[in-house]
Amino acid sequence: MIEVENLVKSFGAHRVLDGISLTVRQGQVVCVIGPSGSGKSTLLRCVNGLEGYEGGEVRVDGLRVDRTRPEIRAVRRRVSMVFQRFNLFPHRTALENVTEGPIFAAGEAREEAEAHARALLARVGLAGREGAYPSQLSGGQQQRVAIARALAMRPRAVLFDEPTSALDPELVGEVLSVMRDLAREGMTMAVVTHEMGFAREVADHVVFMDKGRVVEEGPPAELLTAPREPRTQDFLRRVLRPLD
Ligand SMILES: Nc1ncnc2c1ncn2[C@@H]1O[C@H](COP(=O)(O)OP(=O)(O)O)[C@@H](O)[C@H]1O
Ligand SMILES: [Mg+2]
Repeated sequence: MIEVENLVKSFGAHRVLDGISLTVRQGQVVCVIGPSGSGKSTLLRCVNGLEGYEGGEVRVDGLRVDRTRPEIRAVRRRVSMVFQRFNLFPHRTALENVTEGPIFAAGEAREEAEAHARALLARVGLAGREGAYPSQLSGGQQQRVAIARALAMRPRAVLFDEPTSALDPELVGEVLSVMRDLAREGMTMAVVTHEMGFAREVADHVVFMDKGRVVEEGPPAELLTAPREPRTQDFLRRVLRPLD
């Protein structure tokens, strides 16, 4: 579903992605972990065409991701993204945030878009909150609206960029639980996260990135418990510091 081959991307003289390859098959969940600044967000942004790239190739559902070509709109409809900071429209209700894309970008009829949005809000545990504005919702609820919004375009895959990093600790679980359900239902997902418990339980494959390269990858049971590379070992030691 998502194929990244030897992807190279620079900002000025700074090579941020230095030959990244990554595959997410249909129905798979791939978690991407790595230190801050390693290029994880840039990788996701190249996959849905928010950023261009100068080398290699990205394909989504067989379509080449190329910002200079009109097919980029089809690509963006096939992969939705969920951001760390939910990016909801503050002056629109939960329901309006979810129907915005389908009505204005995809030209869906309002009645149909609203029925779908209500079903999606129920699916993320927000039945009854359709009329709430973002400021009236907790961070966890806002992020669940953002997930419903991402699903409203009926994407073939969803990219998550540290979806729980901006949340108070007690709100993390409700968002991960929605993501877990989505994975169980067979959604193709690429998830940048520091939630190692989630990665261990839900991921089919884990990729460790550092300095714009894939350092090590494998099944979670191997990569997260018995990493081979010293840099992976060092990173995991710091993220999985023992609970006191
Ligand atoms: N728009 C940009 N312009 C210039 N440099 C950027 C831009 N976006 C990201 N970078 C740089 O690219 C590197 C990787 O960033 P990013 O992909 O956000 O890493 P991560 O998500 O792993 O923390 C960082 O050094 C960051 O400062
Ligand atoms: Mg990032």
